[in-house]
Amino acid sequence: MFDFRSDTVTKPTPAMREAMAKAEVGDDVFGEDPTVNRLQEVVAWKLRKEAGLFFPSGTMANQVAIKCWTEAGDEILLERRSHILNYELAAFAVVSGVMPRPVEGERGIIRVAALGREFRPKSYLFSAPSLICLEDTTNMTGGTCYPLTVLKENRAFATETGIPIHLDGARLFNAAVAQKVEPFEITQYADSVMVCLSKGLAAPVGSVLCGPADFIEKARKWRKLLGGGMRQVGVLAAAGLVAVQTMVDRLAEDHELAKTLAAGLQGTRFRCEVPETNIVIIDVRETGKGSDAIAGLLEKAGIRCVLADASRVRLVTHCDVGKEAVAAAIEAFRNLKV
Ligand SMILES: Cc1ncc(COP(=O)(O)O)c(C=O)c1O
Repeated sequence: MFDFRSDTVTKPTPAMREAMAKAEVGDDVFGEDPTVNRLQEVVAWKLRKEAGLFFPSGTMANQVAIKCWTEAGDEILLERRSHILNYELAAFAVVSGVMPRPVEGERGIIRVAALGREFRPKSYLFSAPSLICLEDTTNMTGGTCYPLTVLKENRAFATETGIPIHLDGARLFNAAVAQKVEPFEITQYADSVMVCLSKGLAAPVGSVLCGPADFIEKARKWRKLLGGGMRQVGVLAAAGLVAVQTMVDRLAEDHELAKTLAAGLQGTRFRCEVPETNIVIIDVRETGKGSDAIAGLLEKAGIRCVLADASRVRLVTHCDVGKEAVAAAIEAFRNLKV
């Protein structure tokens, strides 16, 4: 069985396990875990933000960021198919009491004209637009990356309208590798950024939220309130350090394999765009079957994937599926009796 459901299924590497066993630890709620502190500094530096904070998950880090930037009754602008809007259980409504204003993107990429169409100026009639959330790379729209020019225009819009930008960078390092830029060249356009260590970078747990020092101080309070204050968590941060220090460049291999997979489906009834990174969204409509039926048949052929929606399946390449697995996936699609 080859598991293409997500890059979250990746297992910690031997180097991570060794680092975890040897990690120096302390009580992180007191801010005394040296390994956590080091991870936070390293990630904040890579993204050129003043401070960082370790979180058990990307979801919690995104939600704390929203909580810190907004007041109850505000609204947040975000892409229609974004993770925060669709896969975080409406936590923004529960935790922050804010309303989402979905923006239509192009393969998940929000352009400034679309922002302008949805933006409503502050008025006593409207919920106040208080935050723009961008996702880079995009997840359910196929691992697309924000062109830096688009980010720059969005930044100018945010500055002009006085609204901060939070970047859901669960796969930010994929974007940096694919675009051959340093991560900070992307994150310079956002006020806060969340990056995940437990996706393509293969750490077992963890995300880091970065931003201005006063924002991170506020985030520390909300993390604790939500139950995210952890104690000798350097054992996890140690794996995160190995992830950011040794697993970033190899993401290029995942991107190549995703392209190989997409190329292998050419000429079949399975349609997909050429992926920019490690996520391949495949439209199965031409088979006359739904994505659930196709996913079921693939599973029987030893290939696991998830449904992107009723007519599309998603396959994600990562370090625990190699060339052999991709060749098997292509063969499985080609041999499906549909
Ligand atoms: C774009 C994006 N943001 C946020 C998350 C949430 O991360 P976590 O699963 O660590 O809560 C994910 C997880 O898949 C994601 O793909």
